[in-house]
Amino acid sequence: MVYVKKKEARPAPLPLQHLAVIMDGNGRWAEKKGWPRYFGHFRGVKSLRQMVKSCSRWGIPYLTVFAFSTENWKRSSIEVSVIMKLMSRSLTRYQQELDRNQIRLHVLGNLEELAPSVRNIFNEMVERTKNNTGLKLIVAVNYGGRQEIIQAVRAISRAVKEGQMEIDNITEDHFYSYMSSSVFPPPDLIIRTGAVSRLSNFYLWTAAYSEIYVSDVLWPDFNEAELKKALHFYTQTSRRFGAASLERK
Ligand code: IPE
Ligand code: IPE
Ligand code: MG
Repeated sequence: MVYVKKKEARPAPLPLQHLAVIMDGNGRWAEKKGWPRYFGHFRGVKSLRQMVKSCSRWGIPYLTVFAFSTENWKRSSIEVSVIMKLMSRSLTRYQQELDRNQIRLHVLGNLEELAPSVRNIFNEMVERTKNNTGLKLIVAVNYGGRQEIIQAVRAISRAVKEGQMEIDNITEDHFYSYMSSSVFPPPDLIIRTGAVSRLSNFYLWTAAYSEIYVSDVLWPDFNEAELKKALHFYTQTSRRFGAASLERK
């Protein structure tokens, strides 16, 4: 038998279902200019707006943005309240823009611990945009990957206790179905800005096979050209999920 080596095909761009962004570097951006840290958060909204527009225009189905982690409560009360105000103000200000672009808002994280005014506007916007058919924008707010796993452990333990499930029947898929993020596909690409290469408790379970792109650019300076660089990086990767190779179509 003669072994004929197949001509290697040029890899086609990979499908990107879910892009996730750890928007980091707001504080440093402001500090570099000698301004208070919260100025960076204000400017960060501009980058976020642009990112949402680009993803929506390019037909990316899911975009998660990490807006506030369960550990971010450790910051000064002034900084926390600026971030909270900014979130509710932006949601109010851009509600028509979300509708116009058919963007559907989802929230990941524990809203119960937020001030009622902030929680209400998130809930209102989730409700208002629920029939929109375009980009699914997932805002991770008061979100922590560890907390999400613990919440799933509690729910599955309850199911076992109530006799709805056998311990030995708990599979990965089963466990995953108890996690809040299981309603979205796992992120294909995670962009972290601000030159820091860690997950900081973001999407711990579902990021198992996500590609990670670290950008040196601080979030307030992250623009469409930078986003294109990240997407180009993604198209060059070979995703194997543990296998020796994965054929690209
Ligand atoms: C990210 O920017 C925004 C949030 C965590 C809310 P940072 O505020 O963490 O900015 P740096 O990392 O201190 O520069
Ligand atoms: C991660 O950034 C959280 C968000 C971007 C919302 P942090 O600035 O909180 O992460 P660490 O503290 O540098 O790990
Ligand atoms: Mg940071």
